[in-house]
Amino acid sequence: MSSAQFPTVRLRRLRRTPALRRLVQETHLVPSQLVWPLFVTHGEGVRRPVTAMPGVTQVSPDELVKDGERAAALGLGGVILFGIPAAKDATGSEAYDERGIVQEAIRTVKRAVPQLLVIGDVCLCEYTDHGHCGVLRDGDVDNDASVYLLGKVAVTQARAGADLVAPSDMMDGRVAGIRKALDAAGFAHLPIMSYAAKFASAFYGPFREAAGSTPQFGDRQTYQMQPANADEAMREIGLDLAEGADIVMVKPALPCLDLIRRAKEEFGSPLAAYQVSGEYAMIKAAAERGMLDEPRAMWESLTAIRRAGADIILTYFAPVAAEAV
Ligand code: PBG
Repeated sequence: MSSAQFPTVRLRRLRRTPALRRLVQETHLVPSQLVWPLFVTHGEGVRRPVTAMPGVTQVSPDELVKDGERAAALGLGGVILFGIPAAKDATGSEAYDERGIVQEAIRTVKRAVPQLLVIGDVCLCEYTDHGHCGVLRDGDVDNDASVYLLGKVAVTQARAGADLVAPSDMMDGRVAGIRKALDAAGFAHLPIMSYAAKFASAFYGPFREAAGSTPQFGDRQTYQMQPANADEAMREIGLDLAEGADIVMVKPALPCLDLIRRAKEEFGSPLAAYQVSGEYAMIKAAAERGMLDEPRAMWESLTAIRRAGADIILTYFAPVAAEAV
């Protein structure tokens, strides 16, 4: 460390012009690091706006192809698909139906845009009539029975052509369960990105309108983590890696910058962070009311997530951010 001091040292020298500032910029956003979450619904020619998330829509598979082409043209890292089923039931059966909406969407988009990385979100909450992320027994989510069904979700998505599966349910042992199911079905090569440290967060509110996945009773606190815990988040990540997760995720992103940093330092594995619906909606709503400059707030929040240590960011801003860089 240099011992030079003011007036020899003047940090403002490197801030004087845009060219100098550009030269010393430490953190960069690259389109390949951005993953775009998309919501798919049955039908044709459907593009239905989500009120709580301006700029976000539910699309039918044919419209999804247009978004997939846009994602590929921008060089995005990929898209992650969430499904709105035709009907919900107690076990979320459309989630693991070979002809379910996500399986259909994966086949359609991979046929049209084969070079695009397509990720399947593996969960039951959009598909169950009670809205929880697993099946119920005695009023709570039955862990092991849910893991069995999640394995089936992953395998049907893999058969449809998904490049990567991403379990977001927070059941114990689900990465091991999904790994075993994939391997047995001939998909030993298919990587898993686990939502490893996922908190029971208020910031998922707008997503539940987009995906129609609000729990019909209670909340998700018996399976998602409480936001007060950091050591537990590291245990969750460590367990998922031990079970075979290839990429681990921290979610939400901006409220968890400390955990993103800690996870990057403690584990060094590829790390994703999810800038969730509420983080997106806050910026959009404030900008609509003239309270924030939207492009700058978007850029600053995404850069902060990268600077904290995330290699990959899931964000509804993905195409707009990629156009801006
Ligand atoms: C479903 C799931 C949720 C999100 C991603 N997958 C909602 C939840 O857990 O309630 C939230 C994403 C967002 O808010 O943008 N398990």
